[in-house]
Amino acid sequence: MQFFLAQVEQGKDTVCASLRESAVKKNANDQRQFANFMKIGSVTLKNKTILAPLAGITNLPFRLLAKEAGCALVCSEMVSAHGLINKSKRTEQMLDSLPEEKPLSVQIFGSQPDVMAEAARFVESSGADIIDLNFGCSVRKIIKTGSGAALMKTPETAEAVIKAVRKAVRTPLTIKLRAGWNPADNQAFEISQIAESCGVDAITIHPRTAKQGFSGHSDWALIAKLKKQVNVPVIGNGDIFCADDAIAMLEQTGCDAVMIGRMAIGNPWIFSHVLARMRGEAEPTADLQHRFEIMTRYVQESVKYFGEEIACRMMRSRLCWFAKGLRNSSQFRKSVNHISTETEALQRIEDYKESLQADL
Ligand SMILES: Cc1cc2nc3c(=O)[nH]c(=O)nc-3n(C[C@H](O)[C@H](O)[C@H](O)COP(=O)(O)O)c2cc1C
Repeated sequence: MQFFLAQVEQGKDTVCASLRESAVKKNANDQRQFANFMKIGSVTLKNKTILAPLAGITNLPFRLLAKEAGCALVCSEMVSAHGLINKSKRTEQMLDSLPEEKPLSVQIFGSQPDVMAEAARFVESSGADIIDLNFGCSVRKIIKTGSGAALMKTPETAEAVIKAVRKAVRTPLTIKLRAGWNPADNQAFEISQIAESCGVDAITIHPRTAKQGFSGHSDWALIAKLKKQVNVPVIGNGDIFCADDAIAMLEQTGCDAVMIGRMAIGNPWIFSHVLARMRGEAEPTADLQHRFEIMTRYVQESVKYFGEEIACRMMRSRLCWFAKGLRNSSQFRKSVNHISTETEALQRIEDYKESLQADL
């Protein structure tokens, strides 16, 4: 990270240069095709696809990969409001951004209205285009502080948080919810109404309960129901595993945009497939050559951004997502398990690619 920041200071031109160039090209093309498709407050999205906030994943290099694939809005990882107001360097660095990825939504989490408001001001001054409030995280560490999905159980606190943040910033504000806490609760409706009345500009819903975590299925009927109930845009999320799922969610629920999480982790190019389907074209066939090119650039740009040691540690698990479903992926997984240098990482990718030559 220090390495990256030093580069930023020296001149932004060197940072993620290849990713930035292709993100710009892709933006220009899509702007023509999908102009003014959706608005979140004053922010216009060029189409209806959004990259979900994914802790540990949606950092700057990854967001640029999604952008290059045509994604209209990228979201940061969730950022701790406390971390921001305590001036934690690591937390502040999560606000790093580049013009080519814009618009950018930065998600914050916390449960104290004054802390959330101050953090939102900080995020606004960092240049974020949208501020998103995390009301959906069900990880123990988060909910035990009353943050994330725990806020869905406490409508008064939820309201106080949203009101305080709304009052603190002019930046468009969104909220990301789950269905509720327990299956019977469906607090999403109550919280959405509160959010709308407090001036939130869009609502994202991942229709699983907090108790469900990632088990079972997303209840898309709930997205449709919410869409009928509120007047702000509704972003549907949950269980989009291919381009046709994205189209199906839009058609079945009437939601204003789709947000893609897990499927994008090893397939950031999923957005280009969804956009092809939105244009009425067939979904492009998977292109192994392209997959390997992206893996290579992901490693290179992450090394530039985070420095070699941190990037390689990250790439041990990230690269496995890219190999999911490919022949001999378990062997590849083992081979990247201990990578510690960029050269090593690139060599493993090259070796794996060669072993799959027959499929290329
Ligand atoms: C590794 C991982 C990290 C996540 N981090 C966040 C996060 O930081 N903030 C958030 O609101 N949701 C987070 N989520 C939830 C996703 O944004 C999304 O709501 C969920 O994965 C459902 O969408 P999907 O079926 O497209 O994956 C995370 C999910 C995963 C798998």
